[in-house]
Amino acid sequence: MDIRGRRLRQQNEKVTRFISSIRFDGAIAKEVLMVNQAHMVSLVRSGEVDRRVGARCLRFLESASTEVDPSSVSEDYHQLLEQSAVDTLGVDVAGYLNLGKSRNDQVATALRMHLKLVLAGVISAAVQLQDALLDKVQEQGALAMPGYTHLQHAQPTTLAHHMFAYFDPLERDVQRLFDAYQRADASPMGSAALAGTSVSVSRREVATLLGFASVVDNAMDGVSSRDVELEALSCFAVTMSSLSRLTEELVLWASKEFSFVDIPDEYAATSSIMPQKKNPIVAEIARAKSGSVFGALSAALAIVKGLPYSYNLDLQEVTPHLWQAAEDTSASLSLLAAVVRGMRFVPAAISKSMLDDFSTATSLANYLVKEFSIPFRQAHAIVGSLVRDAGAEGLSLEEVAAKRLAGAVRAETGRRIAVTEATVRSVLSVESSLEGIVTQGGSNPRFIAGGLRARSKTVKSSRKRLSSLRSRTGSSERALTRAVRSISREVNN
Ligand code: ARG
Repeated sequence: MDIRGRRLRQQNEKVTRFISSIRFDGAIAKEVLMVNQAHMVSLVRSGEVDRRVGARCLRFLESASTEVDPSSVSEDYHQLLEQSAVDTLGVDVAGYLNLGKSRNDQVATALRMHLKLVLAGVISAAVQLQDALLDKVQEQGALAMPGYTHLQHAQPTTLAHHMFAYFDPLERDVQRLFDAYQRADASPMGSAALAGTSVSVSRREVATLLGFASVVDNAMDGVSSRDVELEALSCFAVTMSSLSRLTEELVLWASKEFSFVDIPDEYAATSSIMPQKKNPIVAEIARAKSGSVFGALSAALAIVKGLPYSYNLDLQEVTPHLWQAAEDTSASLSLLAAVVRGMRFVPAAISKSMLDDFSTATSLANYLVKEFSIPFRQAHAIVGSLVRDAGAEGLSLEEVAAKRLAGAVRAETGRRIAVTEATVRSVLSVESSLEGIVTQGGSNPRFIAGGLRARSKTVKSSRKRLSSLRSRTGSSERALTRAVRSISREVNN
């Protein structure tokens, strides 16, 4: 018997292929089976379906395949599964599978279940990258390096400070992903098509069997909403925007002009014509993937926008964007983690880049304020004039300031100051500039150890949280299997 029913004549195959989700249903096939199982368990428990009938349905579901042939001519896996149950068990038995449920609540539920799994994967990959950044801090964190604004040398910083500046937004990404997980953790099952159902199924029981923390209260909301999917996509997009800045810097740093970093050969490619080339391919592709993920988010937003309530088949088109974006995000994060772990910063090139770069000028201005009570704006002008001279004469700021600081102060303020050349040189050194930083979160190397400790703790606690979410999922899956078996073992089919 064709489960399409009697209302319509046969569908044109071209139409079926056009409107079908079968190509991307493989991702949620396992979850769809579980939803069918939990729903049938509840129908049997409430007495809506005869125990022997339910047992045979559950038997079938236990052995049903989650391999979805993407070339099958079917609207979706939901239909394929039910049709195959009817073909195998007959309609007298399998005809009860869809009592009190719809593909609408079924797909919304399966999507959330799979999304939880996928979110956990992305979080885990983000934490890997965080961990790799901390590895670099441990190895080479105290290395002084130029800090940039406008891609111009601005003030000295340390490698640790720079790596922490990547770690911290990733930590916010991780927190956002955990938040998205929590909002995904509610079951739409029992919403049926949109109105709920006159069939007695316990929504709570089904939700618990499927590992959800709660149920989506309103049945129309349950089948219509995709905000949870949009939130996840937004989290992926923001994470990829964080990542794209790191990848961009890796590409720059690996260039001849910078030569700050040596990327491990396993993560580089050469050219088919230029034998000398070593291209930072992983960073490039990850940088590009951020664009694909932003595209997925805007596609999904545009699909959902303006849809009348409740379910519309348009919603189906969100799904492939969601999985693709999750895969791109998670692969980019974990490959970048490997690159970061394996790469080495090149101290000689980095310190060479800081020679005569004027990047400690601010320290000298601050010194004039502190030592001689010169207003900062005037101190800024004094040091600025010295930098201009140094630039014009091709000299270093140290040299010019050592000789002419007092004169420049006199010219700007009319005051006489006494300062030794050695003092000026020491104020302008990278080391004393870094050590002079006193504010929290600044680049003083004294802050590295504490920063490392605090951040190692967050990595640990994210991993703990992740493993407790995963073990919750594992134990609810086992509970579902037990519930199914306790009914299905009553028949031998
Ligand atoms: N295949 C659909 C999806 O992935 C679910 C089916 C809902 N279809 C329907 N006619 N109610 O969203």
